[in-house]
Amino acid sequence: MALMNSHDDRKSRELKVYIETYGCQMNLADSEIVLGIMNKWGYSPTKSIDDADVVLLNTCSVRNHAEEKIHQRLHVIMKRKSENSDLLVGVLGCMAERLRKSLLEKHNVDIVVGPDDYRKLPQLLEGAFAGVRGIGVQLSRTETYDDIVPLRTEGISAWISIMRGCDKFCTFCIVPFTRGRERSRTLGSVVREVEQLVDQGFREITLLGQNVNSYRDNTNDFSDLLAAVANVDRRLRVRFTTSHPQDLSDKLIDTIASHDNLCKYIHLPVQSGSNRILEAMNRTYARQQYVELVNKIRERIPGVALSTDIISGFPTETEDEHRETMRLMEELRYDGAYMFKYSPREGTPAYRLGDDVAEETKTRRLNEIIALQQRVSYEINQSEIGKVFEVMVDGVSKKSDLQQSGRTDTNKTVVFPLCLLKPGDVAEVRINRASAATLFGEVVSNLN
Ligand code: SAH
Ligand code: SF4
Ligand code: F3S
Repeated sequence: MALMNSHDDRKSRELKVYIETYGCQMNLADSEIVLGIMNKWGYSPTKSIDDADVVLLNTCSVRNHAEEKIHQRLHVIMKRKSENSDLLVGVLGCMAERLRKSLLEKHNVDIVVGPDDYRKLPQLLEGAFAGVRGIGVQLSRTETYDDIVPLRTEGISAWISIMRGCDKFCTFCIVPFTRGRERSRTLGSVVREVEQLVDQGFREITLLGQNVNSYRDNTNDFSDLLAAVANVDRRLRVRFTTSHPQDLSDKLIDTIASHDNLCKYIHLPVQSGSNRILEAMNRTYARQQYVELVNKIRERIPGVALSTDIISGFPTETEDEHRETMRLMEELRYDGAYMFKYSPREGTPAYRLGDDVAEETKTRRLNEIIALQQRVSYEINQSEIGKVFEVMVDGVSKKSDLQQSGRTDTNKTVVFPLCLLKPGDVAEVRINRASAATLFGEVVSNLN
């Protein structure tokens, strides 16, 4: 009998796929879709790269730093491939879409597949096993992977992408180029998926999109979708991200206010406190409109928590404009913020403005913004001491296995001594200590 070659050997057993995910939650959700597609074709997921026949990196292009990290990781993985020629390596996601063929040329990877072309994965891998490298980077106006069952790993919390792409074209942002045009799934398909997740025991759902507020299926808007999802099961916690300030309607505010299980937490990126910079960013709102929106939200949804994104050192940003951002943060007192140094992205409109804020200045401004937010978060969290929150348990605390952790409806992490609660359970916890990032407390009653 002839010796089995590696190709036959591969066919005689189940192939294993290992995936590493970078970037935003949409990418995490996409990795589950990718595993769903691969699973249908007989691949099974593995958490260990050592067992893998196929290694996939689902990548992010949002800032240069993100891409650099991935390039370095690819070097390490390609070294592994040079020691095991049967291993296939693929780059997925936003970097695949942005860099396309150059990834094949520069890194010699086997396949490059952008966010709208994941259905081609099995076929491209089949080609790659036969020695033909492949690329799929077509963007689509309709693809939503509506019918794909994502392969979710255990846990109580699930992501659902309700829409894909972005039409906002903020001038600094690569996402509209890597993810293509905005398109939404139907309300019916999202609700059906939520019903199945509830049956499987999931207790928290996060609806995802680059800008969920512009969700549309012929007759329904995002408020209709949120209400429908909230009504699937009143005990299910429902979160959503991200909200663009321009599309956050009164109807949406009222919907959140009137459903107990729609979490009172809104991520509402402002990016800058300066009108001139906001305009140069094409954010489509002025500072005052944003402030009025926040005031309205806080009036109508008592106890709501708000977070934001800030970019420091956008081209031409002056010291005064930077201080306007600081003043806005001081005035609005966000519960949390994600803060970034501007990173020029080739092909975006802002790229043509140059990158004229000196690196040291950007770093200093960013550090000032971070210090300010740390102080505000700390102060807000101090004011939570003595209050009792309903906390949904998500597991053992990251720092100590004698502690458990969970989250409030307002998305704050709470750590408390280990007790007989399992993930998904809800308990009342009284806060007795707080840092800028975490609340600490004691369980006062189990609500299950
Ligand atoms: N759609 C979401 C998320 C976009 S990316 C939204 O609109 O909020 C997440 C954040 O990354 C953005 O809000 C922005 O603050 C930041 N970001 C995007 N492009 C960037 C760039 N070129 N440089 C620095 N930060 C950037
Ligand atoms: Fe990028 Fe703006 Fe779209 Fe967010 S809304 S993904 S920042 S273009
Ligand atoms: Fe990154 Fe793409 Fe998300 S660029 S932030 S992975 S949409």
